[in-house]
Amino acid sequence: MKVLEAAFIKGFIRICANGYAKGWHERNGGNLSYRARPEEIESVKEELNENAPWREIGATVPGLANEYFVATGSGKYMMNVACDPEDSICIIKVDETGTKFKIVWGLVNGGRPTSELPSHLMNLEVVKARTNGAYRIVYHAHCTNIIALTFALPLEDKVFTHELWEMATECPIVFPAGVGVVPWMVPGGEEIAIATSKLMKTYDIAIWAHHGIFVTGPDFDTTWGLIDTVEKSAEILVKVYSMTGGKKTQTITDEDFRQLEGPFNVKFNDEFLGK
Ligand code: 13P
Ligand code: ZN
Repeated sequence: MKVLEAAFIKGFIRICANGYAKGWHERNGGNLSYRARPEEIESVKEELNENAPWREIGATVPGLANEYFVATGSGKYMMNVACDPEDSICIIKVDETGTKFKIVWGLVNGGRPTSELPSHLMNLEVVKARTNGAYRIVYHAHCTNIIALTFALPLEDKVFTHELWEMATECPIVFPAGVGVVPWMVPGGEEIAIATSKLMKTYDIAIWAHHGIFVTGPDFDTTWGLIDTVEKSAEILVKVYSMTGGKKTQTITDEDFRQLEGPFNVKFNDEFLGK
């Protein structure tokens, strides 16, 4: 099969296009990665160049040794992924030591995978271990309202989680573990990757102060649904703060949240609710 005919590539491209339509990907902002299944790679192997040179990842991910990933290219625009995927995205393979990768397909006009590859791979390694291999996607977007909140709220997991949960009844059901917050750091390197992947041991969502958000999930729809829910919640919160200066007239209480656990068969992170 041709790479561009494969369902996992079509799903990957759809997220890029949807994220651009949402306004989360100005210029080259944001990036996406997907840990492919062996049978998906087998189905497109006729188009893969296994003789490409190995390059340094800039991080060590032994838990992902010998695996294949789809990733957006560094400096590439999400706007262009759907119309020119071969120029904008690539398939890479990680080597047996988890320190190098090679580009086996895509980026036909040159370039390299996203500058956030260390964060993507370290996060994918952590969530793969946490979910027994179920999680396969890491998505980074510059969501407007989430970024705005990082100027207004204290950069604490508890504050962000509680405020975002309060903004829509289904929020705690969609992200019961809550959200983690990384303080401002230089993007694109191992240090921010380590800080983010530490949070991904607990959360499916990590917010980068004054920059954007990372989310993770098992498939494209679930991952998309998660980021869409979180950003919508942030948008409501921005509107509430704009209208009220942060003084809510009423809200969903911790007792209300507790009542959701039984009917929705979910357990919320106790750290973020009164006992
Ligand atoms: P890349 O173009 O290298 O993916 O970088 C975009 C970005 O959002 C960095 O955080
Ligand atoms: Zn970014």
